[in-house]
Amino acid sequence: MDNVRVIKNPVVYLNLCVMRDKNTDSQGVRIAARKITRCLLYEAAKNLPLVDTEITTPLTTFTAKTVDPDINLIISPILRAGLIFTDEAIDILPQATIRHIGMYRDEKTLKPVWYYNKVPMEAPNPEKFYIYITDPMLATGNSLIEAIKLYADKGIPIDNIKVICMIAAPQGIENIHKHYPDIEIITAAIDSHLNEKGYIVPGMGDAGDRIFNT
Ligand code: URA
Repeated sequence: MDNVRVIKNPVVYLNLCVMRDKNTDSQGVRIAARKITRCLLYEAAKNLPLVDTEITTPLTTFTAKTVDPDINLIISPILRAGLIFTDEAIDILPQATIRHIGMYRDEKTLKPVWYYNKVPMEAPNPEKFYIYITDPMLATGNSLIEAIKLYADKGIPIDNIKVICMIAAPQGIENIHKHYPDIEIITAAIDSHLNEKGYIVPGMGDAGDRIFNT
């Protein structure tokens, strides 16, 4: 599939098995999920612009590469399950800002319903913005499309916006690419299909419930 990066890494496979298993308790799901998010975020971070910086080690001074400190790096978790990415994200990318997006899925229509939006900012230099929208489950893709729109409508280049998920359904990927053909989706797995209730099969069940023990 174009514009979909599936992370092929034994650490990811191992932790996907733990996370998906119905016998794994909530704490186990969270631990496994965080390890997967870390791998996904490292992969996403490959698009960040670099600058030279002078570093003095105990031995010498030299010019090293680092992440451009002048970019606006935004992690946008879709509440609530997307929160599982945030601790890892700010650990490995300390300059990131977290901007939450609250949407739930109407159980009948499967359409997203907004309840919280922490993306009120203008983007005066849109090319300086780098956005990672996080949601462990890319099911119908409807919430993610709304979230992408929020940023794309501010003029942020689509190349600077990434969707990061753990498990994706083919229908959801297709839906996102129908609206935004050029957006890159980074995922740990592409599963078989969505069932009639909009759950990913084989999936992991309700990610929010499994992560937050509800
Ligand atoms: N959201 C979930 O939590 N799980 C699914 O399978 C689909 C959407």
